[in-house]
Amino acid sequence: MTSERNILRRELRENFPRDHGQLLPALHYLHHQFGHLPEWAMEVVSWHLGIAASEVYGAATSYTELRIDKPGKHIVRVCTGLSCWANGASDVLASLQSRFDMHSGSTTDDGQFTLEEIPCGFVCALAPAIEMDGAWHGRVSSDDASRLIKEAMSS
Ligand code: FES
Repeated sequence: MTSERNILRRELRENFPRDHGQLLPALHYLHHQFGHLPEWAMEVVSWHLGIAASEVYGAATSYTELRIDKPGKHIVRVCTGLSCWANGASDVLASLQSRFDMHSGSTTDDGQFTLEEIPCGFVCALAPAIEMDGAWHGRVSSDDASRLIKEAMSS
């Protein structure tokens, strides 16, 4: 871990001036590097930028595109925006939770799936929509969503 910290310190020194305005760019950099924001890495950002760790954590948790916890191998995002909700997103969500023992905002015990709800995926014409590993699927039924999960399980 110490060498990881040292490498990150060097990268931050090289790419991010010690300026408060660099907080979000640095957090996005971490997110890109690790796929989430490990606590130790946020501590390094705090040290590098001279910003309180609580402020770094507060910024990290304020943006839905930034993930604090390590995600599962597959990320399933169910849109729960108005159009999707009105067209059956609640059924799709409930189905995934019960059929695969998934819980919104968490990763399955085997580390295979992270289930998330998002407020609007901006594909409202395709409602209800889910995103599976970055690819959107529209007008999905509960069975469609289950099929996508099973396909991911076998991949
Ligand atoms: S409400 Fe679901 S994509 Fe907009």
